[in-house]
Amino acid sequence: MESRPFPMTELQTSRLKLRPARPSDLAALHAVLSDGQAMRFWSTPPHQHIETTSAWLRDMISAPPATSHDFVVEHRGVVIGKAGFYQLPEIGFILHPDYWGQGLAREALQAVIASVFATYPIPQIIADVDPRNAGSLAVLTRLGFMETGRAERTLLVGDTWCDSIYLGLSRPQP
Ligand SMILES: CC(C)(COP(=O)(O)OP(=O)(O)OC[C@H]1O[C@@H](n2cnc3c(N)ncnc32)[C@H](O)[C@@H]1OP(=O)(O)O)[C@@H](O)C(=O)NCCC(=O)NCCS
Repeated sequence: MESRPFPMTELQTSRLKLRPARPSDLAALHAVLSDGQAMRFWSTPPHQHIETTSAWLRDMISAPPATSHDFVVEHRGVVIGKAGFYQLPEIGFILHPDYWGQGLAREALQAVIASVFATYPIPQIIADVDPRNAGSLAVLTRLGFMETGRAERTLLVGDTWCDSIYLGLSRPQP
């Protein structure tokens, strides 16, 4: 049997299952990615059409494990978002607003961060966050991310230029 240098595993936390995406996740992920509140500071506008989410999901499923370590987030059997690294070493995450405020993002991110450092010999992971995205900045700061820089007009989302705060989290010392 062919050995896979970067096996995609499932991660279990006390309340969440994190697993590779599959085609049947389309409707649940579209509910997240079409939500204006959840997508307020995402790198694209909310998905208006299911075909947009379908293409996004195809990319997530086919992303090569050598450069991607990405998971859908399941809570009590319901897909509520995604967390992980579509393109290493940058972290990305989004949860449906119905599930905000319960510590679920922190729980999911702790698991994917531990997993990525256990699986890949990378020295650090990074994040690129809109300065107005207080929730994401709070979650990342609580996880130990430190600001490494700022830049203006980094991303054109729809017809609006957005700025970036860059953050980094180094591999924990053994
Ligand atoms: C950011 C997001 C994932 C947070 O999810 P969540 O499950 O509500 O976060 P948690 O409950 O785990 O919160 C973790 C910490 O962040 C804080 N926090 C979360 N949202 C916050 C907000 N909007 N404002 C201030 N603090 C916030 C919590 O109080 C908590 O702090 P504590 O550890 O001191 O108690 C969620 O709001 C989301 O999906 N946002 C949209 C997607 C997005 O912008 N992704 C990032 C792109 S870079």
